[in-house]
Amino acid sequence: MTGPRKRTAILISGRGSNMMSLVEAAQRPGYPAEIVAVISNRPDAAGLAWAASQGLPTRTIDHRAFASREAFEEKLHAALLDAGTEIVCCAGFMRLLTGGFIQRWHDRQLNIHPSLLPAFPGLDTHARALARGVRIAGCTVHVMRLEMDTGPIIAQAAVPVLPGDTPETLGSRVLAAEHRLY
Ligand code: GAR
Repeated sequence: MTGPRKRTAILISGRGSNMMSLVEAAQRPGYPAEIVAVISNRPDAAGLAWAASQGLPTRTIDHRAFASREAFEEKLHAALLDAGTEIVCCAGFMRLLTGGFIQRWHDRQLNIHPSLLPAFPGLDTHARALARGVRIAGCTVHVMRLEMDTGPIIAQAAVPVLPGDTPETLGSRVLAAEHRLY
């Protein structure tokens, strides 16, 4: 590795399995990022307790406590600055962000999505992919831009659809690929 590790904050909303993979990866020597904060918009996100058990600074910023998206994002932005964040990684962060926030973190905010973007942005990706009969599913890590699930693609992994796949079976194989990719 050349240069210091990038100070990276991870945003989650739930289970946090991609966050766990990032945290574990960052424990390896030579990994280009260090995790400086794990922030959830939901107090009940299961990933928070795990992150705390790893000794990571965690924080809940409950979006329901704010009157507007902008007010929520102002608080989130301040928390990211507090942590000295250079890179923001969304990992199952299920809150739409406004253009103002996206602009502030332009080229410094990444997302993982469980499809081969630009196919199947949004929710229920696996059910929709199966309904369309695709033979190859997968996942994408991309730089975030204004429109949901768009932006320059950094990496993708392909996952074959198998006969008899359900959204759950396909989703769990894609999730394993997500963990390697992010
Ligand atoms: C992951 O599959 C992630 O790609 C997806 O939510 C799941 C979160 O799981 N994200 C999106 O759909 C974003 N559009 P995790 O909390 O266990 O990482």
